[in-house]
Amino acid sequence: MIQVSEPLIGATEIKYVNECLRTGWISSAGRFIEEFEQKWAEYCGMKYGVAMSNGTTALQVAVGCIDLQPGDRVIMPTFTIISCAQAIIYNGGVPILVDSNPHTWCMNVDQVREKIETEIKKDDGKLKAIMPVHIYGHPVDMDPIVELAEKFNLKIIEDAAEVHGAEYLTDRETTKSHWKRCGGFGHLSVFSFYANKLITTGEGGMVLTNDPAYAEKARNLRNLCFHPEQRFLHTELGHNFRLTNLQAAIGLGQLERMEEIVAKKRWMGKTYTERLQGIPGLQLPIEESWAKQVYWMYGIVLNGRTGFNAVRFAQKLKDLGVETRPFFLGMHEQPVFQSMGYFLNEKYPVAESIARQGLYLPSGLTLTKEQLDQVCNTVKTVLNDIK
Ligand SMILES: Cc1ncc(COP(=O)(O)O)c(C=O)c1O
Repeated sequence: MIQVSEPLIGATEIKYVNECLRTGWISSAGRFIEEFEQKWAEYCGMKYGVAMSNGTTALQVAVGCIDLQPGDRVIMPTFTIISCAQAIIYNGGVPILVDSNPHTWCMNVDQVREKIETEIKKDDGKLKAIMPVHIYGHPVDMDPIVELAEKFNLKIIEDAAEVHGAEYLTDRETTKSHWKRCGGFGHLSVFSFYANKLITTGEGGMVLTNDPAYAEKARNLRNLCFHPEQRFLHTELGHNFRLTNLQAAIGLGQLERMEEIVAKKRWMGKTYTERLQGIPGLQLPIEESWAKQVYWMYGIVLNGRTGFNAVRFAQKLKDLGVETRPFFLGMHEQPVFQSMGYFLNEKYPVAESIARQGLYLPSGLTLTKEQLDQVCNTVKTVLNDIK
């Protein structure tokens, strides 16, 4: 079976982890945590990094930093992981959903604009933030989001969990145009370092920001909000969302190979596209002219004409030794949110369609050219079988 993703652990990671074990720095203090925080923040063009136990807790803390009042609203895509919506809800907010762009599968920026206009007309001051989520390696079109946030005084919580190293051409219609890394746009940005991410710490995450007050708040929320002068005094509630030095040691080792990792992913994405393009009924990932995407996962969407939905297609591929994963199911279709009274009767046709017709192919860093060829041949065989 060709796996959907396997981590690639190198000699440096093993050396750094051994150092933790040898020296006894195995918990949430130690040199690797600070170094990993600083270096990752710097790589993404941000000032401060605050490591967390995973991407879900990083989102929870990032939203916690903006002090939502009960019922405050945050605009986010329906097509994403549940961590995004629950971070808003656990912090007392209400998610306002938008559909996906049919080409990039990221949030539809025109709909963001429309939803903001509707919210602003309510004139209740409850709209507080936008949460753009870069999907499967491709950046959201960030300039319009930044412009809207500035115009309406909204915070940006940027979820960059799936786009380590991806870049966006900002100010592209001006002489100031330049490439900027994803994770460098939000008032607060969030990463996951789960084992299938471009760089991993096993489980892990990080909040990035340029604002020292947010960084301090994130550190406090991560660590039970101990009072700075009197340790067991608490004036706020926090969490234990700490990352360990052992995990940060893995992350730092991985980060040292970042260039190589991004290059491998881009090779993988481009090679898949070369091999699969032109097959009728198969939609492939794109790379907008303003994006350098990193193909975190190589997604494909099957047109109804193929006679397949994603579940049947995945089963056929599995029978022939190729593991896949389905696309996200939109937040508005989640029974848990329906039963809580959220998103009732809301429809997002693009997200609904790609959720049923989309899946991703093996995309891990250990994928060889031979395996990639085998995956492509299997995809072609399955599609030819039905004609
Ligand atoms: C877009 C996005 N945000 C957040 C997360 C949550 O990260 P974690 O799995 O580390 O909790 C994920 C997980 O894959 C994700 O894809």
